[in-house]
Amino acid sequence: MSTTARRRPGAAPRREARAAGTALVTGASSGIGEALARRFAQLGFDLVLVARGVERLQALAQALRTEQGVRVHVHACDLSVPDAPRALAAALRRARCRVDVLVNNAGVVGWGEFARQTAEQHRAVVELNVGATTQMLAQFLPPMLRRGAGRVLNVASVAAFQPLPRLAAYAASKAYLLALSEALAEELRGSGVTVTTLCPGITATPMLRGAQRGSRGLQRLPPIVIGEADAVAAEGVAACLDGALVCIPGTLNQAAVLAARATPRVLLRRLGSAIVRRFE
Ligand SMILES: NC(=O)c1ccc[n+]([C@@H]2O[C@H](COP(=O)([O-])OP(=O)(O)OC[C@H]3O[C@@H](n4cnc5c(N)ncnc54)[C@H](OP(=O)(O)O)[C@@H]3O)[C@@H](O)[C@H]2O)c1
Repeated sequence: MSTTARRRPGAAPRREARAAGTALVTGASSGIGEALARRFAQLGFDLVLVARGVERLQALAQALRTEQGVRVHVHACDLSVPDAPRALAAALRRARCRVDVLVNNAGVVGWGEFARQTAEQHRAVVELNVGATTQMLAQFLPPMLRRGAGRVLNVASVAAFQPLPRLAAYAASKAYLLALSEALAEELRGSGVTVTTLCPGITATPMLRGAQRGSRGLQRLPPIVIGEADAVAAEGVAACLDGALVCIPGTLNQAAVLAARATPRVLLRRLGSAIVRRFE
């Protein structure tokens, strides 16, 4: 799926989104979020960095100010707390900080059979991947629409394209995000605000390393199937600024999604189960 040939008909030209804008990146303290923040800074965007751990955010902010000469605002919070997105939007209004690009990247994964995970693990997946992302959109889309300009990048996953036994709630949360983003992109057609869904495959980040600690199968993953966060971020940011609808970084991941679309759902479930089981 090309990231360059999918410019939305209503999208503003790329140079408008690039002019002295501010990008807010959630989950910016590690992995794909950190790479996305670095990429926006390289392009001259000021940044709002959001995650729970303030020290890593401060360190990244300082590095980006020094290396890229951009302004960086740090906001440490747990986005899965119901009021956190509203409080974040209010704090930025008080600081007179306008968000031109919203990147909903923060996410958590729950790995293993659904019934063997705790209710708390499921709650974390749903409250962050679904609840917080939806609330961030509710807070930050209306001002973009009033200005008639803005970009949204929602980080889903290739897991969004099929049901995945043993990653059931996680894959379902990403399917929700993909469906929500596509519907919003259509609602906003011609408004000057675009919504892009980034769907990475397996990527070398702390999230993957955490899952690998509990899985010999994941430790044996062939390097060719593991993407680099910087490459994922470069494709995602380009797609976002182009107003693309969906961005699937990497040829292998694009082929996997195409194959999934052509495969009957019943087969897809069995195949998904067999593949994920190999990684336990
Ligand atoms: N890695 C992969 O293979 C892969 C593949 C497809 C899609 N993705 C998606 O890519 C996104 C980033 O994943 P990643 O692999 O880069 O993971 P990661 O390295 O674990 O980073 C997750 C980020 O989210 C933040 N975060 C976690 N819980 C939070 C909360 N409750 N409130 C605010 N921030 C929170 C973390 O910082 P704190 O802990 O300090 O809060 C961190 O900055 C996720 O949405 C993930 O589902 C990842």
